[in-house]
Amino acid sequence: MSGTIKKLDRTAHYLKNKVGFIPEIAVILGSGLGKLADYIDGSIEIPYEEIPDFPSTTVAGHEGKLIFGTIKNRKVVAMKGRFHYYEGNDMDAVVFPVRVFKRMGIENIIITNAAGGVNTEFTPGDLMLITDHISFFCENPLRGENIDELGPRFPDMSAVYDRALRKAALESARKLGIDLKEGIYSYCKGPSYESPSEIKALRQMGADAVGMSTVPEAIVARHMGMRVLGISCITNMAAGVLDQPLNHEEVMETGKQAEQKFSGLVSDIIENWE
Ligand code: HPA
Repeated sequence: MSGTIKKLDRTAHYLKNKVGFIPEIAVILGSGLGKLADYIDGSIEIPYEEIPDFPSTTVAGHEGKLIFGTIKNRKVVAMKGRFHYYEGNDMDAVVFPVRVFKRMGIENIIITNAAGGVNTEFTPGDLMLITDHISFFCENPLRGENIDELGPRFPDMSAVYDRALRKAALESARKLGIDLKEGIYSYCKGPSYESPSEIKALRQMGADAVGMSTVPEAIVARHMGMRVLGISCITNMAAGVLDQPLNHEEVMETGKQAEQKFSGLVSDIIENWE
């Protein structure tokens, strides 16, 4: 058995013992989108520092804890604070929690993020269902020896974001009166924001949004056969769209303003999950 599997299983075992149940759905909460945690009943919070082999978070706006409990009677775990590549984590650390979730027996994951709007028809505060991604410029989290217990060497990525779940998410949005956009998420390494020319190039490639997370987690989740749903909160227009500089405070502030809408949507999606 590989050292990675041993580590993953030790952590999975620790969490299962501690909470006494296996969630159906894991949710990774993006920057400024932590409010969903308030929707979790009977919550058991576990700070990352207490979890064997978990990396630790540093970025402002990211608290580091797992929150287990129920949303509308569905068992969930929410990850408040994720591990980014730009923090200096290697890819193994970035994707470690997702692999632990799968080793616990969790088959479904909702991955959320704050993103810049590349599609000029978007407005800050919009929510976007991720239909596909572009990640040419970034390290692949599966680089290195393949761990056969997790998935195949050359996993198919033709439908990373589950079609049936996307349809259900659109239905939830319609019911709640939310104008849920759909589009392609482009992953950039960060931590500097993109240049206007990079954004122009990404737009020509078909990108609708840009951000610094999500794709590594989505790739490893698919590698392990998990069902993935991705949702971006468009917190700002990407570089060069407007004649103004980008700043992290604006990203956090718009995230905060959209939190209620975002949490309501995710909670309805969870309630109707099939
Ligand atoms: N670029 C990259 N990541 C982001 C952005 C952006 O414009 N906004 C929020 N996260």
